[in-house]
Amino acid sequence: MHILITGGAGFIGSNFVKYMLSKYPDYQFLNVDLLTYAGNLENLKDVKEKANYTFIKADICDKAAMTKLVREHSIDVIINFAAESHVDRSITNPGAFVQTNIVGTQVLLDIAKEQNITKYLQISTDEVYGTLGSEGYFTEETPLQPNSPYSSSKAGADLLVRAYYETYGLNVNITRCSNNYGPLQFPEKLIPLMISNALENKPLPVYGDGKNVRDWLHVEDHCSAIDLVLHKGDAGEVYNVGGHNERTNIEIVETIVEALGASKELITFVEDRLGHDRRYAIDPEKLTKKLGWKPKYTFETGIKETIQWYLENREWWERIKSGDYMNYYQQQYAGK
Ligand code: NAD
Ligand code: DAU
Repeated sequence: MHILITGGAGFIGSNFVKYMLSKYPDYQFLNVDLLTYAGNLENLKDVKEKANYTFIKADICDKAAMTKLVREHSIDVIINFAAESHVDRSITNPGAFVQTNIVGTQVLLDIAKEQNITKYLQISTDEVYGTLGSEGYFTEETPLQPNSPYSSSKAGADLLVRAYYETYGLNVNITRCSNNYGPLQFPEKLIPLMISNALENKPLPVYGDGKNVRDWLHVEDHCSAIDLVLHKGDAGEVYNVGGHNERTNIEIVETIVEALGASKELITFVEDRLGHDRRYAIDPEKLTKKLGWKPKYTFETGIKETIQWYLENREWWERIKSGDYMNYYQQQYAGK
């Protein structure tokens, strides 16, 4: 297979590139990323010399550039991770989300149709389903009711993917995963923000009453689910991904504080996020029963290992948090 991975310098994309390179030495991988604030080539320094791996900086919205790359690299599969991914940023700047998440997806779908791509896989999110009350789960049949500019842009993309299957018969799949955590997550997201702030003895900002619930999955388990859907997913199908790890935000923050021996006094309740979804919880039965997926991590094993990773890789997140990353990037990767 010749696989195009978009957004492969971000958190999940870079974990996925590494996961696939070690599992499929005979496949060819092209990683295309625009290297926005969230894209970090340092995440891929261990694999950049591999013969079956190429990185190219490009924008998924640039149809001419993307078409050229797909042709030159004889791509037959596209996996689209590239996105603006942070809900808080979507509240202050929705336009960037519409551009990359919706227009970018439509551009890739057009290319997939025109270049006879054999499989197009869209990496989506449980947030497209909106919010739950205290009971129940999101299934693949739950109506799409996104509440934030981020989730509505992802839902718009999902509907386009569906339309290219229904209208043009493109072989597509969509995965909708719950909240990921693990190594290499940009420290604007809850878990790396809380770990790094606690290590720096900074306040830990908890939105609202801290009782919003998220359903956490280790990024490696998300990667194994995508791998399965890539190889075994039925055409046109959506697969939810989640491991039944519901936790309130305050539980997460307290777990981190305790594990690091930090002071509870750092926990600071702040103004709530606008339109803050109350609860997410995934029913992964279709993926587990039909494709045989099983997560490797429990939340307890995964969070322990993740905290350890941020302890051992302090330079990685300090460079990002100090705003120094762009300088570093320009020096290290000039001209690439
Ligand atoms: P991320 O923000 O860490 O990475 C996104 C990557 O996309 C970055 O490397 C960025 O440079 C790149 N990118 C942005 N705009 C681009 C463009 N126009 N062209 C090319 N590249 C561009 O995000 P993430 O957390 O790794 O999420 C990856 C995907 O998974 C997203 O589609 C997101 O919606 C989805 N997802 C994330 C989670 C989660 O918990 N993080 C859960 C479910 C689904
Ligand atoms: O559910 C999947 C989604 O998970 C992905 O599609 C998104 O790309 C990803 O960013 C994530 O979205 P969330 O909004 O759930 O993640 P975030 O880490 O921003 O916030 C998790 C919860 O923690 C949420 O209820 C808001 C809260 N929070 C977040 C931050 C950054 C805080 O209380 N304080 C904070 O400082």
